[in-house]
Amino acid sequence: MTTTRRPIVAGNWKMNTTVPEATVLAAAVRKAVDGVHGVEVVVCPPAVSLVPVHAVLDGSDVGLGAQDAYFEATGAHTGEVSVEMLASAGATYVIAGHSERRARFGDTDDWVSRKVRAILSGRLVPIMCVGETLDEHDAGQTDAVVTRQVRAGMAGIGAHEALGVVVAYEPVWAIGTGRPATPEGANETCGTIRAVVADLFGAAVAEAIRIQYGGSVTPANATSLFAQPHIDGALVGGASLVAANFGAVVSAAAARHG
Ligand code: PGA
Repeated sequence: MTTTRRPIVAGNWKMNTTVPEATVLAAAVRKAVDGVHGVEVVVCPPAVSLVPVHAVLDGSDVGLGAQDAYFEATGAHTGEVSVEMLASAGATYVIAGHSERRARFGDTDDWVSRKVRAILSGRLVPIMCVGETLDEHDAGQTDAVVTRQVRAGMAGIGAHEALGVVVAYEPVWAIGTGRPATPEGANETCGTIRAVVADLFGAAVAEAIRIQYGGSVTPANATSLFAQPHIDGALVGGASLVAANFGAVVSAAAARHG
């Protein structure tokens, strides 16, 4: 493995955990990944738990992320949270364009792009999700879909900013289904994404940018996924709610370079 990209494993807790449960899980994650080196580790609790989880993680290497942000800075946007607010709560990463938001909450390619730009303007790290649905997969449209989503999501940013984006390739049919993409299939699409980034920003940015795989990642499949050259970590849903499982996925990413 010649890559120097530092793997990044992020836990997307989705709409799980009350505030007390989130602090307990964060403390357990902190312990589970203690002593693991060479991997960037992030947890993304529900927004209401960002502040208390930040306190639990204080002094550790575990980063804090939000699951979404609105692109406007302030104003009459009932229910929404701005990037600056998330930063003030201690978040340094923000997920943008998760397929659940695209499918259920109306996030369009244009909105994802605005969110990515807002997150970058706030000097936080966007974790930009892309991925095809089952119908698109079965119709052989995977490359076309992720190409469109990457081009749209990274529209209007410069090469230097692109370097700070983490892309998460998450086939919708693999999320929460226990049916992950094959390591080879996931690698192929992550390679397509890297080629799109090369086309947009040049070979050096494409070589440096990190691309995660997400969709039913578990301790049992993490090692084979991370053995693939284009896969630089994972966005983990279900398995991130059990600290030991999340820790095992992080350890698998650390072993990649070992
Ligand atoms: P999953 O979710 O690991 O539960 O499949 C991944 C995600 O949606 O980020």
